[in-house]
Amino acid sequence: MEKLQVKDKSFAVSIPEAKILEQVRRVAAEITRDMEGKDPLFLPVLNGAFMFAADLLREVTIPCEISFIKLASYAGTHSTGAIREVIGLAKDITGRHVVIVEDIIDSGLTMAHMIETLEKHNPASISVCALLVKPDALKVEVPIHYRCMDIPNDFIVGYGLDYDGFGRNTRDIYTLCKE
Ligand code: IMP
Ligand code: MG
Repeated sequence: MEKLQVKDKSFAVSIPEAKILEQVRRVAAEITRDMEGKDPLFLPVLNGAFMFAADLLREVTIPCEISFIKLASYAGTHSTGAIREVIGLAKDITGRHVVIVEDIIDSGLTMAHMIETLEKHNPASISVCALLVKPDALKVEVPIHYRCMDIPNDFIVGYGLDYDGFGRNTRDIYTLCKE
């Protein structure tokens, strides 16, 4: 099992690149089919979704716009619960079909807050596209229209996801090793 050391913690490969890309392509095809003629506006959430968004959107073949937003709720390996504001909503989303592109949905608090914030700007629709979902960690109900994979309630890094800012720059996804 391939290992990865990030600061004080060791991780082992849990989702290899080939499997990630297979699921990313499947979801991209679903979005391409559903959003045909709607000129969607994709809003990838920085920092974690940068790699997912790059792979996903290269497979989306309809006309669309892409604009990045940022917010965070995590410190170390545990959700702080304190949600920071959505920053950098540079585009007017009024009347637009918005697709939020997120790396991972854990408690769901971040996404619930994001949807609430975006709804105030009267978009035509809001869809959520998540690379990963931890179904056992969900604390609030969140509509998830597109999801690549469900994972157990473990801490992961890689493919854009970090532990304390590090570990984002890998092709595979790694799970924290339990001592
Ligand atoms: P939520 O608000 O609890 O759903 O947390 C969502 C955010 O926490 C995600 O956008 C990630 O940035 C971060 N996060 C949740 N789980 C993990 C993980 O296992 N590894 C790294 N970041 C995570
Ligand atoms: Mg994130």
